[in-house]
Amino acid sequence: MLKDRDRIFTNLYGHRDTSLKGAMARGSWDNTKALVDKGRDWIVQEMKDSGLRGRGGAGFPTGLKWSFMPKDDRPHYLVVNADESEPGTCKDREIMRHDPHHLIEGCLLAGVGMGAHTAYIYVRGEFMREREALQAAIDECYDAGLLGKNNKCGWDMDVIVHHGAGAYICGEETALLESLEGKKGQPRLKPPFPANMGLYGLPTTVNNVESIAVAPTILRRGASWFSSFGRPNNVGTKVFMVSGHVNRPCVVEESLGITFRELIERHCGGIRGGWNNLLAVIPGGASCPVVKAEDMMDVQMDFDGLKEVKSSFGTGGAIVMDKSTDIIKAIARLAEFFKHESCGQCTPCREGTGWMWRVMERMVEGRAQKREIDMLFEVTKQVEGHTICALGDAAAWPIQGLIRNFRPEIEKRIDQYTANATSEGAVMEAAE
Ligand SMILES: Cc1cc2nc3c(=O)[nH]c(=O)nc-3n(C[C@H](O)[C@H](O)[C@H](O)COP(=O)(O)O)c2cc1C
Ligand code: SF4
Repeated sequence: MLKDRDRIFTNLYGHRDTSLKGAMARGSWDNTKALVDKGRDWIVQEMKDSGLRGRGGAGFPTGLKWSFMPKDDRPHYLVVNADESEPGTCKDREIMRHDPHHLIEGCLLAGVGMGAHTAYIYVRGEFMREREALQAAIDECYDAGLLGKNNKCGWDMDVIVHHGAGAYICGEETALLESLEGKKGQPRLKPPFPANMGLYGLPTTVNNVESIAVAPTILRRGASWFSSFGRPNNVGTKVFMVSGHVNRPCVVEESLGITFRELIERHCGGIRGGWNNLLAVIPGGASCPVVKAEDMMDVQMDFDGLKEVKSSFGTGGAIVMDKSTDIIKAIARLAEFFKHESCGQCTPCREGTGWMWRVMERMVEGRAQKREIDMLFEVTKQVEGHTICALGDAAAWPIQGLIRNFRPEIEKRIDQYTANATSEGAVMEAAE
């Protein structure tokens, strides 16, 4: 288990002083200038050596991403993705509400690493209190001379909070940039990649809140400290989220690679009704394929561990479902979510998400033919990988996971519906 002394987020639950003074007492902003003075190349190399992989879902190496920023005289931008709209994901809000100085100091140090003097933090529309807390913390930093021009840290940095309007698709990095520019939040075709042509056509790096917020501690305590947690390719500490049918749902920082069983036993008080009552888990936010209980129990909670059970680590937000769950209905609800959030730009996603949802709704009742199960799987394959952004994949994967793991359940539902319809027909006939 991760020791308290190795936790980066020491006020995740807001039990301690959230102000600048409180954050400084816990180590934030401690001689930031010394880190700035080590320079851009040192910062990028240290981030690379730390092995940190992006915490926003895709797991792209953070240091490598920073190194893509060109070294030229144009304005460069850091954009922090605080859109956090994936069902099951609720960690960035805790960082913004309770431990915002990790993020703000991270913006300044990441700014040095990528040659940026401006950071925009794009906050999910529904996050009012989070935005207020973050803005208050940023104001404190300006007042204390830690941000702005000629600040004490020796790197001019402005941090600007931008409040979104509440659309899941604006979490996709290029849709986010469009929205930030005041346009409709629709993903752009890549290339060009943001590092060359991002916000206002200028070099930009988009990173998740957690990816930026862990940077100051990594730079202070050293890359080898961070990479000592977890296993190769899956290192560091991670803020996990567990929701659903556990005794104590929670958000908790742990070492990557902790087993699912240990995570649940140590921090969530076990599965509701015991481990024999576990049905399935969506391990990393709504877009990840659902995993059956027996495959999930002892899996390592990291990128490679979840890949081994044909799912993905995503954001580290596990949705736990016990045997009281109607798993077909649960996945149909997610299908509705993705249909609702599709931006409508590409045909396979716009049409496919609606088609998949409608079939799923019939399958919840059992009002379908068994051959439609294969047809539905085939349609998910037509959507997956054939769209501009990964929302198409996100809509396809939960359904694929359902069919792979719970096909007998879908067939049973169809049999029940057919049997009921047949007996109702017989009763009607007899009545006539
Ligand atoms: C539909 C969609 C929604 C996304 N939503 C978020 C989000 O809310 N927050 C986030 O950090 N990344 C989100 N992403 C991933 C971003 O595009 C991007 O990969 C991420 O912000 C990069 O940060 P990282 O490298 O620090 O992980 C989303 C991607 C897609 C396709
Ligand atoms: S995949 Fe869907 S959400 Fe993404 S660009 Fe295409 S239509 Fe829009």
